[in-house]
Amino acid sequence: MKTETTIQGLNAALSPARTAKKRIGFVPTMGNLHEGHLNLVREAKKLCDVVVVSIFVNPIQFGPNEDFDNYPRTLDKDSQLLADVGCDIVFAPSVEQMYGKQPLLTNISVSGITADLCGASRPGHFDGVAVVVSKLFNIVQPSLAFFGQKDFQQLAVIRQLVQDLSFPIEVIGVPITRAADGLALSSRNGYLTPEQRAVAPTIYQSLKHAEKALLEGVSLDTVLAEITTQLTQAGFVVDYVEARSPALQMVTDFKQDTVIFVAAKLGTTRLIDNLIVKFVG
Ligand code: PAF
Repeated sequence: MKTETTIQGLNAALSPARTAKKRIGFVPTMGNLHEGHLNLVREAKKLCDVVVVSIFVNPIQFGPNEDFDNYPRTLDKDSQLLADVGCDIVFAPSVEQMYGKQPLLTNISVSGITADLCGASRPGHFDGVAVVVSKLFNIVQPSLAFFGQKDFQQLAVIRQLVQDLSFPIEVIGVPITRAADGLALSSRNGYLTPEQRAVAPTIYQSLKHAEKALLEGVSLDTVLAEITTQLTQAGFVVDYVEARSPALQMVTDFKQDTVIFVAAKLGTTRLIDNLIVKFVG
């Protein structure tokens, strides 16, 4: 496995694959990797000849009071994990390599689907994601790019971006990887105290409970209110509990496949999760 820190180095490393018209798969990450990321790489390996993983903690997608400075940077450990799953190239640029010394004058804003859910709580976040992902797409020039469904709204934003800006890239969404107790894997789980970690699976339990209730005919409003109550009683500060169609349209009744979204804080750690509830008619 090669590690490149410059665009020039990455181009040199990818040149043989590009010349041979190999299928390049791309997994963008911010590092501090866990099984969820490794599953994205495993999926990429199934479908591609060469797999590139980027590790870049992107400053422009963090709000002023968010965890950019403290976000764990664990490149050595990440590199070992990536080598073990057969990643071919790690691209780990510096902030200067990505953004240069001049302030960025270009913004990319995907409207509509970023207006609510995490977009409402994290103003500017998805613009920062859209800019960095566009830059990384232009730098890596993959055929396929892999994103986790835990960040369901982000995945929808990337799909829209790819369609609107005609990136010649197929976007693959990969199902959420969960711990044995149901907690969706996230780099931010590492911030939880042991007590908070024990409580954190309540999110998934409340989502599964909601799924069962919906399938039994309980109304969507009631089910969403129940999730909020369960989480609040367990000690979370709920940011939102919402239902949307898989295309992120508002839904008021359970009459189609419905995604339930949760964002809630345990102490200072903000966790998100979602569950797609299939409508069986
Ligand atoms: O999901 C993430 O880790 C980040 O938002 C991404 C896609 C790597 C962009 O910085």
